[in-house]
Order: sequence, then C-alpha cells, then structure tokens
Amino acid sequence: MLLKTICLAGLATFSTVQGVQTFSNKGTFPGNWDDSYIDGKTQGTIDQVSNVWYESPTSIKMTQTYIPSGYTGRYHSEVHKFNAYKKGDTGFYGFMFRLSQDWQFVPAQGYNLAQFIADFTDLPCEEDWMPSSMIWIHGNKLQSRVRMGNVCPTSQQETLPFENLATVTAGEWHKVLIQASWQSDETGYYKIWYDDAIVVNRTKIRTTVTDGRPFQFRVGLYANSWTSPGKMLGTQGFRQVWFDEIATGTTYKDVDPDQW
Ligand SMILES: *[C@@H]1O[C@H](CO)[C@@H](O)[C@H](O)[C@H]1NC(C)=O
Repeated sequence: MLLKTICLAGLATFSTVQGVQTFSNKGTFPGNWDDSYIDGKTQGTIDQVSNVWYESPTSIKMTQTYIPSGYTGRYHSEVHKFNAYKKGDTGFYGFMFRLSQDWQFVPAQGYNLAQFIADFTDLPCEEDWMPSSMIWIHGNKLQSRVRMGNVCPTSQQETLPFENLATVTAGEWHKVLIQASWQSDETGYYKIWYDDAIVVNRTKIRTTVTDGRPFQFRVGLYANSWTSPGKMLGTQGFRQVWFDEIATGTTYKDVDPDQW
C-alpha cells in the first residue's frame, strides 16, 4: 500500500513537472507527417527547403497560384497530423510561419495558415470535411475561431470568432501557440499566444462540436478567399508561406520552438 502511494505520488509529480511532446516536426517534408494535400487541379506546391528556416537546417515551403478562369475549387497546400484532439482533450499546439518578403496584404482577402479538421462525410447532411478551429490572416491581421454545436444538421453549427488579434508582417518568422480545452459545453477554454504575447484568453466557453471523433491538425497555405467569395483581389496570384517547428504537447514548453 505504501509502495503504491509513493509510486502514484511519483507519477503525479512527473506529469505536472514534465510535459509530453506528442508530436514534433522540425520543418521536414515528407518527414513524419501522416499525410499532405494539394488540390488536384491547382499548381500548389509543398517542399522542404534549406535556404529559409526558423531553426536550421530546413523548413517547409507551401505555395499556391490563382487560376483566373475555369476553376472554382479550393487551394490547399497542407501537411496533416492525425488525431490531434478529440472532445474532452486538453492540449497545446504550436508552429512558426513566415510570409514571403513581398507578400501583398489585401484587405478582405483571407489566407488560412492552420486548422483542426475532421471528415464528416458519413453524416446525413451536406457537410464533408469540416474545420473546427482555424488560424488565418485577413489583410494583415491574425484571426481565429472555434466551432460549436451539432455538425449535422449544419444549421446547428455555431462559430465564435476571435478577430484582429495581431498585426502580421511579411518576410519575418512569427510564432503561434494555442492552448485549448476542447469541450462542447461551457467548460472549455481557448488561448492563443502570438509572438509570445497572449492574444486570446477565453474561459468557460464551448470550443468544439458535440461529435467526439478525432480532429487532425494541419498547417499550410489554404487560399480560401480565392474559392469563397471566389475571386482574387490585389495583384499577387502567387503566394508563398514557410512553416517550421510544428509541435503538439501537454505543456507550453512542449510546443514553444524557443524551448524545445
Ligand atoms: C487568462 O485569464 C485568466 C482569468 O482572467 C487569468 O487568471 C490568467 O492568468 C490568464 N492567462 C494568461 C496566460 O494570461
């Protein structure tokens, strides 16, 4: 009995002091990703490069190119980590990103950088792959959201936006860390740090849908404004973003590239 008590105490100490990094990728591709995706008809690319990185020697470069006519589909160039969370989990998720030096910031155009997503094609409504939480830029402002309610019927989905969180600059590395308690009732929380400053700190909120299936964590360029509303504004139809030091874990330290 005494031995058991000591062991349990030891375990408790271990789990509070020592985090667990559940996934890490130091800017390698194909590396240890579960999957990757480029929409078939696009000229999107995903490459491991060694001329740009946050931590040497490599990062992952994603590009997408606008197709001016005859294409109404999506523009993803993304890498996928399966089983990043399911309802009831708590976790940290982090990545570095860098927009190209000449990135043209266009008001009212959104470019997604990371998302948690799951396949709901088995449900009896129009929903197919649905992102819950997303991180994107709109103009030069960082945005996020969480999605709650029932996935199906789609009218029962609800979205809580977190708008204009920070200003993003081109040609420099930026850090995004997320901490979430993924709950479909009002016991969840959602926090985001951008370049080490806390920009979202919301507690006692719903942070995911009622469906308990696992969500993937994806990073990459998803030029969603080109699909919906469906046009490219500005003059930069070729977009380049680099990603590095992507991680998931149980503590802040596990996902902060400057600490792992
Ligand atoms: C988030 O807000 C809570 C409650 O207001 C506060 O106690 C906590 O310190 C905040 N967290 C961070 C990381 O700032």
